[in-house]
Amino acid sequence: MADEVSVVFTPSGRQGTVARGTNILDAARELGVDLDTVCGGRGICGRCQVVPEVGEFAKHGITSSEDSISAPGPSETTDYRGRRPLGSDRHRLGCHAEICGDLVVDVPAESQVHRQVVRKRLEVDNISVDPVTRLYFTTVAKQELETPRSELDLLRDSLATDWQLSGLNASLSVVKQIQTALTKDREITVAVRDGEEIVAAWSGYHDAIYGIAVDIGSTTIAGHLLDLSTGDALATNGLMNPQIKFGEDLMSRVSYVMMNPGGEVELTTTMHEALNELVGQLAEEAEVERSDILELVLVGNPIMHHLLLGLDSVPLGGAPFALATDKAVETPASTLGIDCRDTTRVYVLPCIAGHVGADTAGAILSERPDLSDDYQLLVDVGTNAEIVLGNREHLLAASSPTGPAFEGAQISSGQRATVGAIERVRIDPETLEPRFRVIGAEAWSNEPEFAEQTKKITITGICGSGIIEVVAEMMLAGIISADGVVDGELASRTHRIVENDRTFSYLLHEGEPNIYVEQNDIRAIQLAKAALYAGIKLLMEHRGIDHVDQIRLAGAFGSHIEPKYAVALGLVPDCDIDKVSAAGNAAGTGAVIALLSGQARREIEALIPTITKIETATEASFQQHFVEAMAIPHAVAEYPHLNKVMPLPERRFANAAAAGGASTGRRRRRRS
Ligand code: FES
Repeated sequence: MADEVSVVFTPSGRQGTVARGTNILDAARELGVDLDTVCGGRGICGRCQVVPEVGEFAKHGITSSEDSISAPGPSETTDYRGRRPLGSDRHRLGCHAEICGDLVVDVPAESQVHRQVVRKRLEVDNISVDPVTRLYFTTVAKQELETPRSELDLLRDSLATDWQLSGLNASLSVVKQIQTALTKDREITVAVRDGEEIVAAWSGYHDAIYGIAVDIGSTTIAGHLLDLSTGDALATNGLMNPQIKFGEDLMSRVSYVMMNPGGEVELTTTMHEALNELVGQLAEEAEVERSDILELVLVGNPIMHHLLLGLDSVPLGGAPFALATDKAVETPASTLGIDCRDTTRVYVLPCIAGHVGADTAGAILSERPDLSDDYQLLVDVGTNAEIVLGNREHLLAASSPTGPAFEGAQISSGQRATVGAIERVRIDPETLEPRFRVIGAEAWSNEPEFAEQTKKITITGICGSGIIEVVAEMMLAGIISADGVVDGELASRTHRIVENDRTFSYLLHEGEPNIYVEQNDIRAIQLAKAALYAGIKLLMEHRGIDHVDQIRLAGAFGSHIEPKYAVALGLVPDCDIDKVSAAGNAAGTGAVIALLSGQARREIEALIPTITKIETATEASFQQHFVEAMAIPHAVAEYPHLNKVMPLPERRFANAAAAGGASTGRRRRRRS
């Protein structure tokens, strides 16, 4: 009988020959197969589970049989002590099962270190789990009277022998933990960061370490707690950003710092306290110890980023909007007032430019336009819109000052997206009668169930998505001209057009209170959407393209806009409507990706310096793009894709000067 046997690992397809009698874990190591282990083959962790296959595998030239693997002994059956239960009676412990003949063996996803995990809740298809901090179990040699050595040195020796880890550092606090952890049986689990530093130690076997990813928005701070070994999301929670008490929007917080000596410390401390509270809430919800949280990843816009890190945010308040640093930042969690271990580290993604922050870096990591063959446009709409455009060849980024109109501010009946806000609108182009849906009820206002469902709801206003839809619908129904003027002549056709101080309003909801869309509301939306569209156009111009292939709308607002209405209003350029979609909280998802993958951190750090930053305010053509984009959907652009799903009316201007963006005088023909 030959002393060597063939083994094929699926799904990787790695194969080779090993000495008969080799256990599967060792064979996997020899052949470079990704098979997980924390206990190093002691039968304790249960992470090395594999499933042997039986049959003829012509592709590999192998017949794999029941006899190709040793029979399970007591350590895999009656005496099994693995923390992770065996997946089925076909699952075998890789560290105990020996290869006796040619074998095909499957490594299930949960036994792979670098696996893809599905994260529906986090709005991403798959995330590669490859954390910077990993656990290692080992048994440390006993002290010998004749050859006394330090406990740290003995531990280092064991880790070098069992795990090929060398040159490990440990801080004083960790040395203390090691000393305490090394009890009589000398079994210990250590957490090693970046293969360089021991950051925690536990007596015996320990198999859980956690990390938290946080998206710090100017209004809310949202976090996810994840198991760093499995990538499982165990808790999700959020808080209002308490800095709101210093100012609703970002600039008012910068003003607060400018006007109040010591204000920057107040703002930073307030954020640290909130973060620490969020960490506590997440740990409680997931029922884990704070001391087992070893990693945090944070993202936020540049001002949040600077205030968080105690950097001066004042330079971000005016040109040239200088960042203190555009590199990723790593710092002990304790420096940000976060109470975990003193070795717990915080990683903050890099900012891109003075207006384009670490949250956009997170969104890029989530959406990966840099890996796309198609031209992808990624837009995160808030009081500032961050825009990223490009494909695998090159990315550009900019921000446009859209203002708070999309969040309901500056709109007479605008409000945040809470119960009672109108969020969907349709207008009959014949009768000009509206129907709508409000948050908190399923039925449309013209359906019989509506009255019952809204009995306990007061219809109080219109939220961002409702504003987008109502203005777009008013354009589609011919209530407003392309330059956004409410047609007063329609007052003779419907009581819904109401004169209001030399302009006209549209009565969207009759009741207590009446809800109108006023001329000034439309103007505010035009200004906001023109700023965004002009920013996008600038990037397209720099990239030398006249179309985009795919549009991803990120953030809470982007999640609620119906894609075709974003195009119909002229918020974004015409595009195949099927390729316009919501990206969810892409910034938060990016933070999760960076939490679970060291490789992702390296990739985004390498990518950010290659992105071309465009400063919209100083670009000569911005104004021209802005004027053209004031029209709804646009003064001159064609809409072949939108027309397929939503035929546009003839483009009609109330004021001749607005036609053609004041430059071409072109009118769009109706397209069928
Ligand atoms: S490696 Fe831990 S049980 Fe096999």
